[in-house]
Amino acid sequence: MKKIFPLFILFLASGVCRAQFSQATRDSIARLSALDHQQMKQQLNIAIPNRPGPSGNPDAPNAANRTESKVNQYTLPDPLVLKNGKPVKTEKDWWEKRRPEIVEDFDSEVYGRLPKNIPRVTWKVISVKDTTIGNYPIREKTLSGIVDNSAYPEIKVEIELVLATPAKAEGKVPVVLELGFIRWPFGNITPEPNRLISPGEPGWKEQLISRGWGYAIINPTSFQADNGAGLRQGIIGLVNKGEPRKPDDWGALRAWAWGASRAIDYFETDKDVDAKRLAIEGLSRYGKATVVAMAYEPRFSLAFIGSSGAGGTKLLRRVFGEQVENLASSGEYHWFSGNFIKYASTLTPDNLPVDAHELVALCAPRPVFISSGSPQVEGQWVDAKGMFLGAAHAGSVYKLLGKKDLSTMEFPSLGTPLVSGDIAFRQHAGGHSTGPNWSTWIAWACRYWGECKYY
Ligand code: GCU
Repeated sequence: MKKIFPLFILFLASGVCRAQFSQATRDSIARLSALDHQQMKQQLNIAIPNRPGPSGNPDAPNAANRTESKVNQYTLPDPLVLKNGKPVKTEKDWWEKRRPEIVEDFDSEVYGRLPKNIPRVTWKVISVKDTTIGNYPIREKTLSGIVDNSAYPEIKVEIELVLATPAKAEGKVPVVLELGFIRWPFGNITPEPNRLISPGEPGWKEQLISRGWGYAIINPTSFQADNGAGLRQGIIGLVNKGEPRKPDDWGALRAWAWGASRAIDYFETDKDVDAKRLAIEGLSRYGKATVVAMAYEPRFSLAFIGSSGAGGTKLLRRVFGEQVENLASSGEYHWFSGNFIKYASTLTPDNLPVDAHELVALCAPRPVFISSGSPQVEGQWVDAKGMFLGAAHAGSVYKLLGKKDLSTMEFPSLGTPLVSGDIAFRQHAGGHSTGPNWSTWIAWACRYWGECKYY
């Protein structure tokens, strides 16, 4: 199979970033992803087919559960009990014993390990421009993070990044990094829209700039494609020298989060950026990558996790909306380690050694804001309540570390901001977007980043 891959993949993987896919290309990506999925199952010695996931189409006969009374009973692993059964009572035990256990389980079974030999990235400023966003003057820098590929020159990887800071800023400003440039895997290429919030409300970029903060956007698919066919390309492929992944190698979510960390490396060198006040934000699959980045990268001080659903902050054991079986299929398994496929074939989600609340707990004590849309507009696939519960069950760890949890286990009504603590949650009235929650997020973030200036 090795022979089929390289050239064709090179073509596809570059297509992922640069062109709209034709039907033929989409079919090829799906076919090659299915082949890679199959070879991973062979490595895992799994001979049985995966269990199929439910459908996201509410009218389909196998539609995903959308009825609260039909949710299963499940038992969550306790983030404050060690594997040997002993309770975690002190901060020291959390940091030295329990947290490393949880990290190891996520590394091996869910998101994959960061390789030890990732080559270095050199940042190059491509352009610096004085321009405007809305009515606000900004300084916009376009950057490229060039990955050293001397160990395997066949694969070239460059990270695309844009940084905008208020032109009127006096000194360093806090920056929100968005995992963005959403170029849907099978759709039109749309440059990241300055998403409108509701009619008359300024977009998120203006909202940040008007408060004296900056924003940056990193393009995740510039360094790791959003499909299984691209796993022998991008940063994952470069580290593996074009070979397939091992079962505990990193998946795309960790690779995207790695890129966000490399952006921090650059921010630390930029005199316009206050690298002590950096946040990460993303929606949907990039919402999943956002919580992964926050969990593993202590230099992010705040997070805005948008509609991350299954694979993000939604409890994986909860049978409602998207399921592990969907995530482990050939269309989405590339986000995770190969080992994750076991939980939709030889094992079940109840066998997972960890669940999403423990991913949120890995972010502690740093503040996180969990966002979702409304069931009517966004739909139920993301499972807003499942995300809320992921946040709620992380509370014991925040409290152990002297921070405030969500302060309720009761799912709030639409629009209610739960923002009094260091874990925050709000379900806005709009669709699949972080847009309508930006103003609430900014007000919450002001508490941590200090007085907001208004231009
Ligand atoms: C699909 C997928 C989700 C994902 C979403 C997105 O709906 O099932 O897990 O979050 O795409 O990224 O938009």
